[in-house]
Amino acid sequence: MKFELLAPAKINWSLFVTGKRPDGYHEIISPMQCVGIYDRLTFEDSDHMELESAMDFPPEENLVYKAARLIRKVSGCDRGVKIRLMKEIPLAAGLGGGSSDAAYALIGINRLWGLGMSDEDLMSLGAEIGSDVPFFIKGGLALIEGRGETVTPLPPPASCRLLLVKPPISVSAGWAYGRLGGNLTKKTFDIKLFRQSLDGKDFSALKQMIFNDLEAGVVEKYPVVGEIKSALLEKGAFVAAMSGSGPTVFGVFGSEEDAVSAAGAFNGFWCRAVSTVA
Ligand code: C5P
Repeated sequence: MKFELLAPAKINWSLFVTGKRPDGYHEIISPMQCVGIYDRLTFEDSDHMELESAMDFPPEENLVYKAARLIRKVSGCDRGVKIRLMKEIPLAAGLGGGSSDAAYALIGINRLWGLGMSDEDLMSLGAEIGSDVPFFIKGGLALIEGRGETVTPLPPPASCRLLLVKPPISVSAGWAYGRLGGNLTKKTFDIKLFRQSLDGKDFSALKQMIFNDLEAGVVEKYPVVGEIKSALLEKGAFVAAMSGSGPTVFGVFGSEEDAVSAAGAFNGFWCRAVSTVA
């Protein structure tokens, strides 16, 4: 058997850091949504575990490989798999690419080996690999809480047109959380109001609710992130914010044409006009 799966990127519409945990992680509240840019994974039977990709670090360090090893161990299955990973989502960008790849590795192997694991089984395995992995098992739009392991799927709103812009820097999530220096959110978040505003595309209301606690620390060190945000707003974005731990910034536009035309302002940066996906 051989098949292909598409692993989407995500944005954090907002990210509020509400607590510091004894394990060093942070408690967050974050509405997250998949967006239409995808890594591609192919799965086929093999007599051993194999990961093929153009990435310039050892396959054993790839989250896809870690996911494959974990599901093999937990399931007790002695079969092998050959996975080919083709990247489209940039690394260390705040777009969840590595986590999505790991989630789809779990989904793909579960299918290839006929393990019959539920989404909940895969989510708890995913949580061992990375905080964002459980979200990608469900996908769509969801409210993320805890360290990332509490995923409440939300009915998908009408799709939004976004422009993603990433400057040529990489930000590690650990570093971005470290910049907070223990400062917790001063904001409250009303998920019902957020959903209503997203559904009704009420961007002036959304603007009041879209806020990323990690943004100030990243902008302080990398002012270009703040400059991209201002430029997106100048070019007509209704709302703009950093996604996750950055450095990618998303801007919300009224149409695909508006998003594509704004991309002209970001020569030399990685840019993609995408839609949110259910
Ligand atoms: O779970 P993941 O490996 O993606 O997290 C990378 C780093 O981001 C963690 O080592 C931690 O420093 C930070 N993090 C955090 N709180 C979260 C998620 C990530 O402090 N909820």
